[in-house]
Amino acid sequence: MEQLKIGLNAARIQAHIEALASLTLPEQPYTRRSFTPLYRQGRELVAQWMQEAGLKVSMDQAANLIGQRPGSAEGLHPIVIGSHTDTVPGGGRFDGIIGVVAAIEIAQCLHEQGITLRYPLAVMDYLAEEPSEFGISTIGSRAMAGALSPEHLRLTDPTGRTLAEGIREMGGAPERIDEARREPGAFALSLELHIEQGPVLEEAQLPIGIVTGLVGIHRAQITLEGEANHAGTTPMRLRHDALAGAAEIILALEALCRATNGQAVGTVGKVENAPNASNVIAGRTDLVAEWRSVDPVLLAHLARRFEAQVREVAARRGLQLSYSPLSDTEPVQVPPAVQHLLTQTCAALGLSTLALPSGAGHDTNHIATLAPAGMIFIPSRGGRSHCPEEWSEMDAIVQGATVIGQALLAFDQNQQP
Ligand code: HGY
Ligand code: MN
Ligand code: MN
Repeated sequence: MEQLKIGLNAARIQAHIEALASLTLPEQPYTRRSFTPLYRQGRELVAQWMQEAGLKVSMDQAANLIGQRPGSAEGLHPIVIGSHTDTVPGGGRFDGIIGVVAAIEIAQCLHEQGITLRYPLAVMDYLAEEPSEFGISTIGSRAMAGALSPEHLRLTDPTGRTLAEGIREMGGAPERIDEARREPGAFALSLELHIEQGPVLEEAQLPIGIVTGLVGIHRAQITLEGEANHAGTTPMRLRHDALAGAAEIILALEALCRATNGQAVGTVGKVENAPNASNVIAGRTDLVAEWRSVDPVLLAHLARRFEAQVREVAARRGLQLSYSPLSDTEPVQVPPAVQHLLTQTCAALGLSTLALPSGAGHDTNHIATLAPAGMIFIPSRGGRSHCPEEWSEMDAIVQGATVIGQALLAFDQNQQP
C-alpha cells in the first residue's frame, strides 16, 4: 500500500486549527455560529487552504464548501472526507474543525507527494452542522441527502431572516437547492474524523474509536402561552404559569429517557421565557426539546409519548400550546466493511482501537444515505465537548488524520468499483 511518505504536516494542522479558533466572539470563546460574518471569514480561510492543497474549490447550491481533485480511473464516484467548521455557542476548538483541517491536510500531502488516487476525492466543509438559529442542524449535508424541505427554507431566525436568505448570504442558491441533492451511490466512500465528545476512549486509554453507528436525533419546538400576572397577588389556583408548565415538560422528557435504561437520552437545553421577571408569572415560554437513540423504533415511541405528555400538561394548566417537530435525523449503522477498513488501517499503523456508537449526531448521518460512510473518533480530554474546555492533543489529531489518509489509500488501491 502506497504510504503517505512524509507524515502529515502536524505544524500546518495545528496552525489551521488555531487560525479557526481565533475567529470567535471575543466575549464567548469559542463561538463561530453558522450564517455569521465570523463563520464566513472562517470558510474563506478554509477555501484558501483547499486551494493551497491543490483542490478545485466550489460551493454547491446548499453552500457546502467543496474541494475536489480528479482521480486517474474513469467512471468512479468520489471518495468524500470532511466535516463542519461552525460551532455551538461557547463551544470548542475541535468539534468538526479537525475533520475539515485533516481532510485538507491529506489532500495537500497527496498533492505535494504527487500521489494520484484512482478515485476522485472531494473534501467537504458541510454547511451548518450544529443546530442553527433557524432551529435545524446539519443543513448542508441534509440538502445533499435531499432532506431539506421548502418548509425548512422558510424557517426564520430571531431577526426574521429566512433560511433561504441565510443560504444565499453564505454563497448558496436556495432557489436551486434541489441541484445540491445527490443520489444514493453518488459517493464511493465517506470518512469523517471527529473528536469523541465523550469519556470512553480516554477512560479506556485508547487512541482511536471505530464508530459502529450514530444516534438519530428528534427535535421539537414547543411554545406555551399562559397568563402573565402579578407574582404576589395571584392565587396559585388561578395561575396559568407558562414556565411552571415548561418545567413539568422538561422533567417529563428526562423521566421518559431515564426509563429507557441508557437506550435514549433527552435534553431541553434551550429555553426562552417572557417576561422573565422575578415578580411576574411567566406569560410565554419557548423551549426546544431533543431526544436521541440508535434505535429508530424507540425514537418514534418517545416522540409519541413525549408529545402526548406535553399536550396533557398544557391542557391541565390551561396553557395554549404550539408543538412543532423541527427535525428527525434517523440513526445510522456503519457498514461492517467500512468498520473493517478503518480497523485494519489502524492495525497496520500499530494503533489499538475500540468500537463504539456515536451519541452525537454528525453530517455522516445524512451522507450515509448516499454512500458507505464511516467515522473515527479521537479522545476528548475529560470527555468534555460543546464547551471552551473541549480539548484533544495535537498528536492524537495527527494520528486520526493519518488513519483517514491511510484508509483512503487502502480503499483506493484495493477496492474494486
Ligand atoms: O449535537 C450533536 O450531536 C453534534 O455535536 N452536533
Ligand atoms: Mn457539535
Ligand atoms: Mn460535530
